[in-house]
Amino acid sequence: MSNDDDRLIAYGVWDAPTRWFHWINALSVFGLILIGILIMCAGSLGISPTGRVTVKTIHVWIGYVMILNLLWRFVWAFRGNRYARWRAILPGGKGYARALEAYVSTFLAGHPKHYLGHNPAARLAVLIILVLLVVQGVTGLALAGTDLFYPPFGGTIARWIAAPNVDPSMLTPLTRDLMDPGAYAEMRSFRSPFIETHEITFYALVAVTVLHVVAVIMTELREGGTIVSAMFTGRKILPGRPEDL
Ligand code: HEM
Repeated sequence: MSNDDDRLIAYGVWDAPTRWFHWINALSVFGLILIGILIMCAGSLGISPTGRVTVKTIHVWIGYVMILNLLWRFVWAFRGNRYARWRAILPGGKGYARALEAYVSTFLAGHPKHYLGHNPAARLAVLIILVLLVVQGVTGLALAGTDLFYPPFGGTIARWIAAPNVDPSMLTPLTRDLMDPGAYAEMRSFRSPFIETHEITFYALVAVTVLHVVAVIMTELREGGTIVSAMFTGRKILPGRPEDL
C-alpha cells in the first residue's frame, strides 16, 4: 500500500561548490594515497634518490590542491546553502543525540529515516574525515618544508640548516654537503613526530575512505535513495518526506 508520502520526489540538496569540493577532494586524496604508498615502497622498488624527490614533489603539489580545496570548503560552510553549512555537516546541536539514536535504530530495523543532507551517523563520519584531513595537511606541510624546502615552512628550515656562508636558497634534498651536520640532525629529530603522525593518519584515512564508500553503497541500496548521483546532479530522489526538509 502506498500513500502520498511514499511517492518518489526530487529535492535539491548539494550546491555546485559543495559538489566540486567533494570530487576534487576525493580525487586528490586518492592520488595522495597512491603516491604515498609509492613513497613508502620507494626503497624496495629501487627508485633512485632523484626519482624519490620527483615522486615526493608530485605528492606535495597534489597536497597543495587538497589543502586549498579544504580551506575553500571551510569558507563555504559559512556561506553555502543550509545543507552545506557547519550545522548540517557536523554532529552536535539541539536534539542530535536523539536523532542519532533514532537513525541507528531505524537503520538496524531495515527502514531508516530519510535525510536530505547528511544523516546523523554521516555527520559523525564527516567530523572524523575533516579532522584526519587537517592533521594530514598540517603534517604534510611540515614534511614538505623539512624534506623539499617547499612553502610555507621551507625557507625557514633552509635558513636553519644551511652551512655557514651557504645561501639557503641553494639547498635541495640532494645537497647534503651544503647543510650544517649538527643543525641537519636537530632538524631531522624535530621532523620525526610529523612523519610518524603523517603515516598513522594515512592508515586511518585509508580505513575511513573504505568505510565511507561501503556506507554510501549500503545506504544507497538499503534506503533506495540516490545519494551517489546526488553528488553529481545536486538532487536527491527520496521516497517520502526527509527529516531535515
Ligand atoms: C590525504 C592526504 C595525504 C595522504 C594519504 C598522504 C600519504 C602519505 C604517505 C603514505 C607518505 C609516505 C610516508 C612514509 O614514507 O613513511 C607520505 C609522505 C609525504 N607526504 Fe603525504 N599524504 C597526504 C597529504 C600530504 C600533504 C597535504 C602534503 C604537503 C602538502 C604531503 C607531503 C608529504 C611529504 C613531503 C612526504 C615525504 C615524507 C618523507 O618521506 O620524507 N602529504 N604521504
